[in-house]
Amino acid sequence: MTAPLIDPFQRAISYLRVSVTDRCDFRCVYCMSENMTFLPKKELLTLEELDRMCSSFVRLGVQKLRITGGEPLVRRDIMTFFRSMKRHLDSGDLKELTLTTNGSQLERFAGELADCGVKRINVSLDTNDEAKFADITRWGRLPQVTRGLDAAREAGLQIKINAVALKGFNEDELFSLAEWCNERDMDMTWIEVMPMGDLGNEDRLDQYWPLSDLRARLAERYTLTELSESTGGPARYVRLEETGQKIGFITPLTHNFCESCNRVRITCTGQIYTCLGQEGMSDLRAPLRGSESDAPLEEAIRAAIALKPKGHDFDYSRQEVAGQMSRHMSHTGG
Ligand code: GTP
Ligand code: 5AD
Ligand code: SF4
Repeated sequence: MTAPLIDPFQRAISYLRVSVTDRCDFRCVYCMSENMTFLPKKELLTLEELDRMCSSFVRLGVQKLRITGGEPLVRRDIMTFFRSMKRHLDSGDLKELTLTTNGSQLERFAGELADCGVKRINVSLDTNDEAKFADITRWGRLPQVTRGLDAAREAGLQIKINAVALKGFNEDELFSLAEWCNERDMDMTWIEVMPMGDLGNEDRLDQYWPLSDLRARLAERYTLTELSESTGGPARYVRLEETGQKIGFITPLTHNFCESCNRVRITCTGQIYTCLGQEGMSDLRAPLRGSESDAPLEEAIRAAIALKPKGHDFDYSRQEVAGQMSRHMSHTGG
């Protein structure tokens, strides 16, 4: 038996998020700037290298693997990678294989994802209004995503909608988005906007809609029952008793959840970020490429996890943005 991955704060690392591309077919305003420079393709881990990387983490005790981007489904041949990861589900070593997607390519890939053992997907969608959707994603078109959602449901995938809570943007959709999700049997999670990427600090404070406020407004119409269940990520859930649906809250600003953090992130170039909200990272590509044996890679993974920080320093409470990260969210896939 290999020793499990435990960080300096006694947190077991069981959840790996892997960004397979930094590219995306959308340009969400809080995530990317309009003119992003993307990495040259030769910098990326190949699909075989991604397989070796993920398989090493599985051997070290990772049980949940989430594929992210950028937009993971725009990476060429990505289904080859999903198909090869299925073997870890079949062996029972991996409990969940999943992805976070903008939904634009689901019409094409939903069936194949289900065949690869994916059961549940998270789809980012902040508004149900076509014009607002085009504004916030700059390049996205809502009907393409709703067709993708239909295809995912038909393929038997369970869907969770992730919406970033944005003041003055989707406040007015608090109830309509919940109803829309309920009609389609989709769960939903709200996320507090984090200061990632150099996109203008003032804007970030203006955009910030604390989930404590969102939750209080929800409670004016529904009876909320706190649920103890978790999906393995940072969301905490309530059930709306009147409809039975689940609503999640991801609250890096109003309620820090770092003490129960169980995850690390790999970028598409093989860097490991052990905290979304800190700049620190270690390179895993060199040990991966430097040896046919996985031993140096596993040693580098352990060394990186030994440096995992206690948590992020995001804070807006002094009416200014603290804890800002220079990298864009798309770099580590959220
Ligand atoms: P579930 O499996 O459904 O629990 O998913 P998840 O919440 O782990 O994954 P998802 O990709 O849906 O994450 C939603 C968002 O939550 C991410 O894009 C981030 O914005 C945020 N998030 C996830 N993990 C962390 C974390 O460790 N720290 C912070 N600050 N935010 C996180
Ligand atoms: N703050 C909070 N969430 C963000 N996302 C992207 N940028 C930010 C940010 N600055 C979310 C996306 C998607 C997930 C990958 O991360 O909306 O749901
Ligand atoms: Fe693309 Fe997701 Fe970033 Fe939007 S939030 S630009 S969909 S990676």
